[in-house]
Amino acid sequence: MSNIKTIGVLTSGGDAPGMNAAIRSVVRTGIFYGYNVMGIRKGYEGLLYGDIDKMTPRSVGDIIHRGGTFLQTARSSEFNTEPGVEKAVAIAKVFGIDALIVIGGDGSYRGALDLSKKGLPVIGIPGTIDNDIASTEYTIGFDTAMNTVQDAIDKIRDTAYSHERCSVLEVMGRKAGYIALNVAISGGAEAVILPEKEFNIDRDIIKPIIDGRNRGKKHYLVVIAEGIGGAIEVAKYIEEKTDIKTRATILEHIQRGGSPTVYDRVMASRMGAFAVKLLKSGSANRVVSVQNGSLTDIDINDALKMKKTINEDLFELSKILTL
Ligand code: F6P
Repeated sequence: MSNIKTIGVLTSGGDAPGMNAAIRSVVRTGIFYGYNVMGIRKGYEGLLYGDIDKMTPRSVGDIIHRGGTFLQTARSSEFNTEPGVEKAVAIAKVFGIDALIVIGGDGSYRGALDLSKKGLPVIGIPGTIDNDIASTEYTIGFDTAMNTVQDAIDKIRDTAYSHERCSVLEVMGRKAGYIALNVAISGGAEAVILPEKEFNIDRDIIKPIIDGRNRGKKHYLVVIAEGIGGAIEVAKYIEEKTDIKTRATILEHIQRGGSPTVYDRVMASRMGAFAVKLLKSGSANRVVSVQNGSLTDIDINDALKMKKTINEDLFELSKILTL
């Protein structure tokens, strides 16, 4: 058994739907197992400024259905320095925080690793819509973001059908194409362009559209990952090359908000509880990970060295299904 009495929890980096469910789970599971739980607002920035409050089960009432993070999140330049990290550890001590649960992406994990090296035990929970954390198959917010994009695609398809147009949709994902690839399949796209794959605009966008038209298609969807970008230019190029009226939509932050799906709420609740149980069992400096659908944990240092790749079968399938 560890001698931890008080757990801190914060969200860091980009918010993601389901983070509230994870915070709620950490708070309630922590209290259930006899810990004090302190909520830290605005990520590492709030830790530096002591923006910290004791949580009760009621503090996290009525948040499970909300997108964003009720603890808020921020990027801190001061924290990214050694004195900043030392100050953060000292402030945690002032508030009696013996261990910290960090909900966020790779950047947040790196901050947590720095804190652990200065003596504050940490646990990471993967939270980002991008699903780009190599140490886990799943990150909180991915499912909700994909469903938000899918809803937009369905609406865009209605009008693309009515006008016999082509639509180019640019979706988030930072340098990764996981959202783009999945919504290309669920949305029935003619083409998808991912940062992980080299591409040629004539071969990978124009040809499938023209081939589709020759097979009788009358409206078209092209999905472009944010890591490639240029949706407006691509739309103009398609129009020039094919004579098909083409419109671009860049979804931006609409994809990051909204009420979390059941899947995200359940995954976040499970991950929050798992993180508390790790501390309870004496583990520290680990990150929660989904492997083959089950929850497990990985050393934070090892986690940050891992690489994630695109699912080749899914990529191939996205092409076959354009027939
Ligand atoms: O990591 C989540 C994410 O939404 C990415 O998909 C995107 O590249 C980035 O954050 C946008 O960051 P910001 O909200 O700071 O513009």
